[in-house]
Amino acid sequence: MKTKNELEQICDLVRECGKVIVEADRSRLHVDAKSGHANFVTEYDKQVQERLRVGLRAIMPDAHFIGEEGTTQAFSPVGKFFIVDPIDGTTNFIKDYRFSCISVALVVDGVAEFGVVYNPYADEMFSARRGHGAFCNGKRLHVSEESLENAIVVFGTAPYHEELKEKTFKLAYAYFRKALDVRRSGSAALDLCTIAAGRAELFFELVLSPWDYAAGGLIVTEAGGLVSDCEGRPLAYDRPCSVLARNRTATCL
Ligand code: IPD
Ligand code: CA
Ligand code: CA
Repeated sequence: MKTKNELEQICDLVRECGKVIVEADRSRLHVDAKSGHANFVTEYDKQVQERLRVGLRAIMPDAHFIGEEGTTQAFSPVGKFFIVDPIDGTTNFIKDYRFSCISVALVVDGVAEFGVVYNPYADEMFSARRGHGAFCNGKRLHVSEESLENAIVVFGTAPYHEELKEKTFKLAYAYFRKALDVRRSGSAALDLCTIAAGRAELFFELVLSPWDYAAGGLIVTEAGGLVSDCEGRPLAYDRPCSVLARNRTATCL
């Protein structure tokens, strides 16, 4: 039998961890508040992160690990780093809104090489390897070719940043006036995959952390889309930044 490559092994691990999310006993959920408005963590975020840390170490022992839930490892532009969000869409998870995912990226010497985003509710495994295209459950992904006038614009509310709320909704309103409609899902990583899959045309959020976008950003690029911060600069992996992802036709405001 053919041995699985590293990306396939990561997908298997992530799929396994997805069971923790869908099978969670939310009737006895222990929720802790973090800094910022409506910023929570549950024991399941921690449990999934620990499983990923152990599993990823077994797949690639020389890679460092950065996870949203308590990590001491600092990102450096040199070396191999897994950048992980164990549950992207924690508020959705707490509410049983059933739109959350696991996000795992491998960044080598400052370049995203692998991106894996898994929605365990829909059993959709999005994955990309730099230079080899993006896929959902094995099917190749392409961004759409629709213009802004025919676009669904997806945005994130940067909920943990009071100072960005007004600016966010002004921008969303401006897009709403130009596009078909707007959406807010609660998972930035899945929003990026939505653009990659051609289900929507443009995504923005005025601040996100590397674990929110490292994997999804590569998936958009490999699906033929454009990803940058809102000023057109490359995404940072060592600090939070804004994110703008789109197909090649929909113009940004
Ligand atoms: C959040 C989600 C949300 C986005 C926030 C993120 P979390 O991640 O991606 O869609 O608007 O900015 O922090 O906290 O659920 O992992
Ligand atoms: Ca997140
Ligand atoms: Ca998270």
